[in-house]
Amino acid sequence: SASYPFFGRHQSGIVTAAQDRLHFAAFDVADGVSRNELIELLQDWSYAASRLTAGLDVSPTGATGGSLAAPPDDTGEARGLPAAGLTVTIGVGPTLFTTADGTDRFGLASRRPPALIELPHFSGDQLIEAASGGDLCIQACSDDPQVAVHAIRNLSRIAFGRASLRWSQLGFGRTSSTTRGQTTLRNLFGFKDGTANVKAEDTAAVDEGVWAAAGDGAGWMAGGSYLVARKIRMTIETWDHASLGEQQTVIGRDKAEGAPLSGGTEFTEPDFTVAATDGGGPAIAPDSHVALAHPRNNDGATLLRRGYNFVDGNDELGRLNAGLFFLCFNRDARRQFVPIQQALARSDRMSEYVKHVGSAIFAIPPGASEGGWVGETLF
Ligand code: HEM
Repeated sequence: SASYPFFGRHQSGIVTAAQDRLHFAAFDVADGVSRNELIELLQDWSYAASRLTAGLDVSPTGATGGSLAAPPDDTGEARGLPAAGLTVTIGVGPTLFTTADGTDRFGLASRRPPALIELPHFSGDQLIEAASGGDLCIQACSDDPQVAVHAIRNLSRIAFGRASLRWSQLGFGRTSSTTRGQTTLRNLFGFKDGTANVKAEDTAAVDEGVWAAAGDGAGWMAGGSYLVARKIRMTIETWDHASLGEQQTVIGRDKAEGAPLSGGTEFTEPDFTVAATDGGGPAIAPDSHVALAHPRNNDGATLLRRGYNFVDGNDELGRLNAGLFFLCFNRDARRQFVPIQQALARSDRMSEYVKHVGSAIFAIPPGASEGGWVGETLF
């Protein structure tokens, strides 16, 4: 099974071939924690993550090597399981730099990257406070759900007394491919998702649209990125009553192959000038998801999407509580995620079938070198 190193120029879990499973967690730093204690937490997380991603327990003593009189260092449920492609990606949220009332808790306010904005309110947002925001985040991706959950559980435990879980999300069935070698899987609308994604092999597009550069306004973020998380509930039951034709019009691609409605096969570029065969306007509707999200409609802006499907059981009306946990990495959300989401929120035909209920943004610092820790360039 795959294993990815924790250390490197960039954090893994971004251009890494998207794994099948996700456990994402947002944390709040406890009141009274000092700047040094925050640094120690990031050091402890990095050390533990470097072991977990190698398929090891969080410490050499681990789940069973310690004293019989003390709780074990590691909770043990990943014993016997391989690394299963685990990546642990650590981020810092806007409230770590400046709280809503302007408090500079850790002397970091002047270090806040201009790109680490508070996301604006988007038309149609129905955000739940308890599923939004956070001082810190950890994205754990793996091909084995138990490995991802074990990572979040043990990293939360290491944070005890310093940071506590604010919200977390499990995901399955990657809705994006991030390398050319991967096949495109489907989201819960049944459509291929990730076809026109930025892929790891497109190094020019990755440099242009994913990695922050030294001159972007925060030198310490060079080689890092910005992560936007949106929990998007799908009104599955309404969608399932929509005709195949309507579903395809909403997306702008056909359901069988994922080909653009302007013709061709999955990876043919959409042509927004081709007319529909029935003569009633363009083949790809201007209010379709693909037309609105396409770089042509957004001054060339792209996103590296890395989301997952979720089903959190059902609601009290017997409807599946399901949707897409949308994750994307971009170099500057002010030029990329925000204008794209504004275009979608304004007129996306898909809006009738989705509801944004969670939202967060995090700066993802560059990777650390062997023995270092994620966040070391910030302090
Ligand atoms: C493309 C589904 C939310 C940005 C697509 C495609 C599908 C899809 C099926 C076409 C295949 C592909 O190229 O991947 C969905 C669903 C969503 C959702 C079901 C919500 C439940 C979003 C959001 C954004 C976004 C919130 C960003 C704000 C994009 C972009 C493309 C895309 C940039 C590629 C457009 C292109 O270049 O052709 N999405 N999407 N999507 N989506 Fe979404």
